[in-house]
Amino acid sequence: MLDTDIDTPTASSAAPEKAPHVDAERYAQMYAASVDDPESFWAEQGQRLDWIKPFSKVKNTSFAPGNIDIRWFEDGTLNVAANCIDRHLETRGDQTAIIWEPDSPQDAALHISYRDLHTSVCKMANVLKGLGITKGDRVVIYLPMIPEAAYAMLACARIGAIHSIVFAGFSPDALGARINGCDAKLVITADYAPRGGRETPLKSNTDAALLHCKDDVQCLVVKRTGGQTTWTDRDHDCNALMAEASADCPVEEMNAEDPLFILYTSGSTGQPKGVVHTTGGYLVYASLTHEITFDYHDGDVFWCTADVGWVTGHSYIVYGPLANGATTIMFEGVPTYPDAGRFWEVCAKHKVNQFYTAPTAIRALMGAGNEWVEKHDLSDLRVLGSVGEPINPEAWNWYNEVVGKGRCPIVDTFWQTETGGHMLTPLPGATTLKPGAAQQPFFGVQPVVLEPTSGEVIEGNGVEGVLCIKDSWPGQMRTVWGDHERFEKTYFSDYKGYYFSGDGCRRDEDGDYWITGRVDDVINVSGHRMGTAEVESALVAHAKVAESAVVGYPHDVKGQGIYAYVTLMNGEEPSDALRKELETWVRSEIGPIAKPDLIQWAPGLPKTRSGKIMRRILRKIAEDDFGALGDTSTLADPSVVDDLIANRMNRR
Ligand code: PRX
Repeated sequence: MLDTDIDTPTASSAAPEKAPHVDAERYAQMYAASVDDPESFWAEQGQRLDWIKPFSKVKNTSFAPGNIDIRWFEDGTLNVAANCIDRHLETRGDQTAIIWEPDSPQDAALHISYRDLHTSVCKMANVLKGLGITKGDRVVIYLPMIPEAAYAMLACARIGAIHSIVFAGFSPDALGARINGCDAKLVITADYAPRGGRETPLKSNTDAALLHCKDDVQCLVVKRTGGQTTWTDRDHDCNALMAEASADCPVEEMNAEDPLFILYTSGSTGQPKGVVHTTGGYLVYASLTHEITFDYHDGDVFWCTADVGWVTGHSYIVYGPLANGATTIMFEGVPTYPDAGRFWEVCAKHKVNQFYTAPTAIRALMGAGNEWVEKHDLSDLRVLGSVGEPINPEAWNWYNEVVGKGRCPIVDTFWQTETGGHMLTPLPGATTLKPGAAQQPFFGVQPVVLEPTSGEVIEGNGVEGVLCIKDSWPGQMRTVWGDHERFEKTYFSDYKGYYFSGDGCRRDEDGDYWITGRVDDVINVSGHRMGTAEVESALVAHAKVAESAVVGYPHDVKGQGIYAYVTLMNGEEPSDALRKELETWVRSEIGPIAKPDLIQWAPGLPKTRSGKIMRRILRKIAEDDFGALGDTSTLADPSVVDDLIANRMNRR
């Protein structure tokens, strides 16, 4: 996490070589226009898309308590696949839409033209129709980073089905919960997911998940490796069906406010919630932010290293770039396989112009040494991006100097699954950069800093508080799938009249924003968002665990690590074997990303007299910050804290 008291380092003077879309003056003008008259601003931006029926209404949004209602372009109709593919065919049919870079560098990359993409998406759409999928049905996608993942997303969009992607690193239980959560009719998966030289058995994970789902959920299987899998009555062979399917599939006319996708994300309480994004506003926002934030120009090769299982992959591998007619890279592998030069090798090979990754990857590659970067020609790079967690100045400087050679602006983009696209970000050529700061609001975004307890707006500069947003923007989520009340409660009830991000922030003396990290029980592990409550409920589901409390702690590479305090059932003895058993258990309940980094056996947890666990204290112990435990007098048994401090060296 960032130390908010650091001096602001000198700004980089790097400027992109192509004339940027906006400079500082233009940014100021456009930003003012976007908040002074959002109707006119977004009416104009709406013209980025091809509409079947043009909209006449632009913004109809309310953050009023009891009436959270968000609609953009509400009487317009369009189709997302038509905007991402069909409209480009005449002018750029032969241009590469997607470069697919497989896990192994020994295997050839695929260059998929817009025309080929059209054919494959139409075929996949007809396969879905053949399985009875129609407008409004939910389809879960549990695929590796292969072209079929993009085909599946766009095929759903083409026929009006709502996709919900589940990251291929999630366990069968997590997959099953999401299939049931959105009542999906179909799961699209693959036999295996190769990644970093290893293979995850996605099909058998899916079979295990489906044991807990309705009998009529069907399964469409892509053969990625051709490895052996079991085959049941509900399974369909995607490759065989696509080979026979027609390449002609008219698009479905969708209302701007029809859902495009659901994406499950972690919150501070309960199980993950289904974030709903709709069609028109989302695509306008994904496409505009992609063009402006990355200073994307026609002909550029754009690479976002995220997985399509996260929102970053939705907005900046598939929807934003393709809406803009870009060439976008889909990478199946990991940054360090077969060696720590893989990212840079791929950048050089495909002459990447914009490169977008997470601080955790930057820190890991920084640790591997400069020689991995220096042996590749990175002269085509123009803009570098960072996303998912605060970037520490050391990693920022390395990214700037060693990767960007001091000539590529770094855009530190702050946003969330809920926001659909960038919220705060520097812009290339328009912003004097500050390492570690997300700096400025994107067009239409009105950040406010609130006093956390009173909820009063803090005016002026040189202030710190919680980050809220004053008015709606087109990419905003519309609801929680099936639970609009939870939507209001989670985002609009702590600070009435505002969207609450869950993050703390500082506005410095120049008016630039610095994200200081989550202020709720969400932790950010390697840029992946994890609810502490989810890990706790996985741990207590183990027969030997009585109670557990999970907090984040600073981790050199991951940003935050998962620290679990575990109280065992009476009669159970702590041991290294049990520790391993619990780690494996959490991996199987949620997925490898949720595995605790440290487990501390805790005979007791610090609780108030009413039984509430005081996590503040547990966080401090995890951070080795015992001097600042604060008031412990309200604890039912204050001696618990001394035991935890004394025992902390037993954490592993
Ligand atoms: O805490 C913020 C952090 O990631 C959270 C959102 O996580 P998720 O919905 O998974 O989306 C991640 C990718 C958009 C935020 O609440 N976060 C995201 N970007 C930044 C960040 N923290 C600091 N700086 C960022 N650039």
